[in-house]
Amino acid sequence: MAEQSFSDFLRACQQRINKKLDYLLPAPEDSTCSSSQLKSALRYSVLNGGKRIRPVLSYAAAEALGGINQDTDLVASSVELIHAYSLIHDDLPAMDDDDLRRGKPTCHIKYDEATAILAGDALQSLAFEQLTKLQHIQPETSLQLIVCLAKAAGAYGMVEGQAIDISSVDQTLNLQQLEHMHHKKTGEMILASITMGALSTGNVTTDQLSALETYGRAIGLAFQVQDDILDVIGDTSVLGKQQGADQALNKPTYTALLGLDGAKEKAQQLHTQAINALSIFNHQANQLRAVADYIVSRDH
Ligand code: IPE
Ligand code: IPE
Ligand code: MG
Ligand code: MG
Ligand code: MG
Repeated sequence: MAEQSFSDFLRACQQRINKKLDYLLPAPEDSTCSSSQLKSALRYSVLNGGKRIRPVLSYAAAEALGGINQDTDLVASSVELIHAYSLIHDDLPAMDDDDLRRGKPTCHIKYDEATAILAGDALQSLAFEQLTKLQHIQPETSLQLIVCLAKAAGAYGMVEGQAIDISSVDQTLNLQQLEHMHHKKTGEMILASITMGALSTGNVTTDQLSALETYGRAIGLAFQVQDDILDVIGDTSVLGKQQGADQALNKPTYTALLGLDGAKEKAQQLHTQAINALSIFNHQANQLRAVADYIVSRDH
């Protein structure tokens, strides 16, 4: 059978996760949550056309190990819910103060700041709730997944990275400090998406996990390097967020430190590292290879 093209795989994963997220979020008529404003803000912020790259990575990692199952759907939804929460909070006035996200007003502009804070909080809880429903894998693996997400999202991962980001405005970070910040704020959740997808198959060896970790660390960093590049060369209408926002806030970015060409070169080096790390896998890892290509070539 001919292999599925990456664009078909991407679309199939997006449809699959969108359906799942739609089902998980409180419906407007759901009377168990009485705040219509909160319900509306949750659906507005999650079901609004993100690329779903973290779920795609969970699915691609599961496919590399021979099988996507319903536990993969659960981990894919949990990582996207954490991501959606992180974006709502990232856009708040106290953080990046952005008014455009995925082509629409950010949550706090459309609703208000309190609602945006609460929507983010609720999404984080909903993310962890998904991991109580795992069925195919062993209980020890379920616990491993919960720890993996908690570490990647919290004070040793994304939240730590965001804290460094906020305290680094107007500072000149060196390359090592910048890499540390990017790895924490973006890389950890990308790596967790891959590791959790792999663990959801219940069929991964330590060697495979370690190769996926090398791959994940490289593309996690590459993802944020490309995000920094797009802040400089992207188009607001394609990006769905304000081009130049990092420069306006004097954020520490790869382009600020290395220049545009240096950042592009860095993204290419990371791409090569990621592809090399997958050498122990057969053709079943081709979608993972394709995601790496996509991450450094995307325009939004
Ligand atoms: C944006 O993430 C924030 C970063 C971590 C760079 P994405 O580029 O994955 O955003 P969406 O989900 O597609 O909107
Ligand atoms: C956001 O990084 C990282 C997280 C949300 C954890 P950015 O601040 O660069 O993301 P964008 O550019 O606003 O999407
Ligand atoms: Mg930010
Ligand atoms: Mg931001
Ligand atoms: Mg950015």
